[in-house]
Amino acid sequence: MLELKNVCFTRDNKKILDNINLKIDTNKFIAITGPNGSGKSTLVKMIMGIEKPDSGEIIFDGKDITNLKINERANLGISFAFQQPVKFKGITVYDLLKIASKKNITKKEACEVLSRVGLCAKEYVDREVNGSLSGGELKRIEIATVALRGSKLAIFDEPEAGIDLWSFNNLIEVFENMRELVKGTTLIISHQERILNIADEVILMRRGKIEKIGSSKEILENNIKNSINCCKVKKVGGNKCQN
Ligand SMILES: Nc1ncnc2c1ncn2[C@@H]1O[C@H](COP(=O)(O)OP(=O)(O)OP(=O)(O)O)[C@@H](O)[C@H]1O
Ligand SMILES: [Mg+2]
Repeated sequence: MLELKNVCFTRDNKKILDNINLKIDTNKFIAITGPNGSGKSTLVKMIMGIEKPDSGEIIFDGKDITNLKINERANLGISFAFQQPVKFKGITVYDLLKIASKKNITKKEACEVLSRVGLCAKEYVDREVNGSLSGGELKRIEIATVALRGSKLAIFDEPEAGIDLWSFNNLIEVFENMRELVKGTTLIISHQERILNIADEVILMRRGKIEKIGSSKEILENNIKNSINCCKVKKVGGNKCQN
């Protein structure tokens, strides 16, 4: 359903995405992981059309979408939840969920979705989606909008970021139920072992390249081995260290 062919993106002489080739099948739950700055967010922004590759192609459902705009890709069924969720001043949670679902859902239906992302629906449904909501609350509301959009491909950039440890278990359950909630392919960037464990496949990125694709067990073993290799520190003179 999604294919990236030789996708490259270079800025300031740095290869942020270095010849990415990737195929993702329909109805899969795929996790992307890797060190900070390895190109994970950039990769998913290419798929949504927030950034454009310097070269290469992006194919979605057999159609070349490389030059399509964000809204055109959204109309084809791709949706995106940001690492830092967007706020909508003046719009209530209920309004936002109605817009996302593209139909006049009832408050009861909106409340059901809010409950499924772990929010006490009555408290939130009439609140404005502004800065008064906490980071974790905004994340959950954003996940609810993506779920309601009925996307063919739902992309989540670190949904666990900013979520406290107590709410985290509850959020993992949301993602464990994601297949039912999203009814399509889910592509999720995460550093959390529990999220990687529920994925059909995990993609490990490093320095703008796909280093490995495999089960969470294979990827975590590989990652630990490589982190140990790249963390050897040489002591240079006094107290100064250099990698
Ligand atoms: N438009 C741009 N111009 C210059 N540098 C960029 C641009 N977009 C991304 N980068 C750089 O590319 C690298 C990859 O960024 P990206 O946000 O994709 O990383 P990431 O893997 O998502 O990291 P994190 O785990 O911290 O979210 C970073 O070093 C970032 O500073
Ligand atoms: Mg990122």
